[in-house]
Order: sequence, then C-alpha cells, then structure tokens
Amino acid sequence: MTLSVAALTSRLDHVMDRTVLPGYTRIGPALRRTWWADDPAPDALAGSVVAVTGANSGLGKATALGAARLGGEVRMLCRDVGRGEAARAEILREVPGAVLHVDRCDVSDLGSLPQVAADLRREVPRLRALVHNAGTMPPRRTETPEGHEETLAVHVLGPHVLTDALREPLAADGAGRVVFVVSGGMYTQHLELDDVEYTRGTYSPTVAYARTKRMEVHLAEAWARELDREGVAVHSMHPGWAETPGVQSSLPRFARTLGPLLRTADSGAETTVWLMASSEGHATSGHLWHDRAPRPTNHLARPAPSREQVERLWDYVVEATGVPAA
Ligand SMILES: NC(=O)c1ccc[n+]([C@@H]2O[C@H](COP(=O)([O-])OP(=O)(O)OC[C@H]3O[C@@H](n4cnc5c(N)ncnc54)[C@H](OP(=O)(O)O)[C@@H]3O)[C@@H](O)[C@H]2O)c1
Repeated sequence: MTLSVAALTSRLDHVMDRTVLPGYTRIGPALRRTWWADDPAPDALAGSVVAVTGANSGLGKATALGAARLGGEVRMLCRDVGRGEAARAEILREVPGAVLHVDRCDVSDLGSLPQVAADLRREVPRLRALVHNAGTMPPRRTETPEGHEETLAVHVLGPHVLTDALREPLAADGAGRVVFVVSGGMYTQHLELDDVEYTRGTYSPTVAYARTKRMEVHLAEAWARELDREGVAVHSMHPGWAETPGVQSSLPRFARTLGPLLRTADSGAETTVWLMASSEGHATSGHLWHDRAPRPTNHLARPAPSREQVERLWDYVVEATGVPAA
C-alpha cells in the first residue's frame, strides 16, 4: 500500500498532536508550515478593524502585531492603558504607520463591559474580528468585586458579555469572526458544571485555569450556533506552548524546563492571526484549532460533553451575566 503525501503528512500531524511535546513546542510549526494552509494575502486585513483583549503582552501583543502587518486597524483592549501604550509604541516601531488604538478594558469587570463595547460600537461600525486573548492564572482563589472566581470571569464570563455586546458590528462586517484563545491544558479537565465558581475542594491554579479554558471551548461552540444566522464565525484555538511573560511568571519551572523548545509569541499567535485574516476563518465555525488545523476537543477516554451539558454551561453563563437579555 502506498500512501499519498497528504495522507502521510496528515498522519504525522496527528501523531505530533497526540504525543503533545512535538506538536506543542516550536517543532510543531517548523514541520507543519511545510503543509499547512497558505498564509493570508499581505493586505488581507486592509480596511478592516480587529479587537484584541490583553493586547499589551505576550500572545495578545503578537496578535495585534500580526494584524497590523496585514494592514488591519487594531483596537487594543487592555486593562492598563500605560502598558497598552507601551505595547502600541513597540508595534509601531515594527509596523510604522499602523493604526492602533488602546482602549481601557478589564475583562473581569463585567459591569464595565457594556460601556466599553458601546464606545467601540460608536467608532467601529464594522468589526472583522474579536479575539478573546486575555488570560490569567492567579496563585490563589480570587474573586472579582462582583463575586466571580477570577479565571472564570476573565476566560468565560467577560468574553461572553463582550461577544454579545459586539455582535452587531461583527455581523455588519460581513466576514466577522470571534476567536477564543484557549489552552491545551483544557484536555486534562472535564466540563465542570457542578462547581463552576470553584468553591469546593482545594483550589489549584492550574486546575482552575484548565477548567475555565475547557468551558471557553464549549462556550465558543455555543456562540458559533448563536451567531450562525448573523454570518459571524466563532472559533477556539490553542497556541501550544509559547514563551511569554505570562508563562514565565505563572509557570517558571515549566518555562525553564522547555527553554528553547518553547515557541516564540509570534508563533503562538500565528493561528489566531490566520483565523482573523484568512477566508477559511470565515468559511467554518465552531471548531477548536491548533496550527491551522481543526483538532478534537477531547482526547483519551474522556468523552466529549453532550449538547445538553453545553447548554447547561450556556444557561449558567447567561444567568450569571444577565446576557443576552431575555
Ligand atoms: N503562552 C502560552 O504558552 C499559552 C498557552 C496556552 C494558552 N495561552 C493563552 O494565551 C493567552 C495569552 O497568554 P500569554 O501567554 O500571552 O500571557 P501574558 O503575557 O500574561 O498575557 C496575558 C494578557 O492578558 C491580560 N489580562 C489578564 N487579566 C486581564 C483582565 N482582567 N482584563 C484585561 N486583560 C487582562 C494581561 O494584562 P496585564 O499585562 O495588565 O496583566 C496580558 O495583557 C491567555 O489566554 C493564555 O491563557 C497561552
């Protein structure tokens, strides 16, 4: 039996994904770029506006830079305007003349998000992409002033509120898309529906992080269904393992162990930029992506959550945020 080149590369890609280390480190894109989908055209985002949360650091900054390189105008949604402006200056040094705005946005402050979105809607009638990139892993259980566990607020509740508040400009674009940046760590957790706010048991930062990233994957699926008739595509993607300030500070031992095997931030952001700018990023919806390929949401013996379980998650999030309004 002879295998075609496409079948061989598909098998190799699969093995790299399931054995984790080759796929998640810089080895992954080094090999996959020889067979993955084409780059977007150099001006693919010219005339378009994209919004990125947590755009002042790591993958968010690399995503903003990637969008600017493709001619896109970027709204950098950052909780600290000073850090946002510093990142903006760095991007402008790389892409002189890029159009970048820093908007103050704390994703965990749910009450503030309708105003953030209203200000954005006034200035941006058409939004090509909304990237939920902001991420956090507090060392101990922390609640927001509104009483939500912090990783839940940053990864799940805030993105939900922002997506709803920006659905109009996303739909008006005609090729709008939403990207939830998740983590391969979510494969270690099931969809936790009995203790969504992590009030029981000993709090583990990595478990809280992975649980909420798992929730984000399925929230993205639910939003894909919700926005289908508005012509907006919704994706989740995981970046593999990239060297960023977040990884250095939250997982220093992991960062030291992997050292030069970690991807660059640009490489970690590559699939997000591709989903924002490519025609494929609007042609499909509701999938989890990694290195420009759809990936399963479950590995090993852990079954994927049922449609009913995903609906329970959606109901919880709607109840907790009051969004979408009944
Ligand atoms: N790097 C990796 O290998 C990796 C792997 C899997 C998934 N990810 C995901 O990729 C995303 C980016 O992570 P990173 O590695 O680039 O980490 P990072 O360098 O720590 O960047 C995280 C960004 O999120 C922002 N942020 C945190 N809480 C926020 C809030 N409440 N409101 C608004 N912004 C907030 C941070 O702002 P401040 O600067 O103000 O803190 C920062 O800009 C995260 O969602 C992370 O879970 C990364």
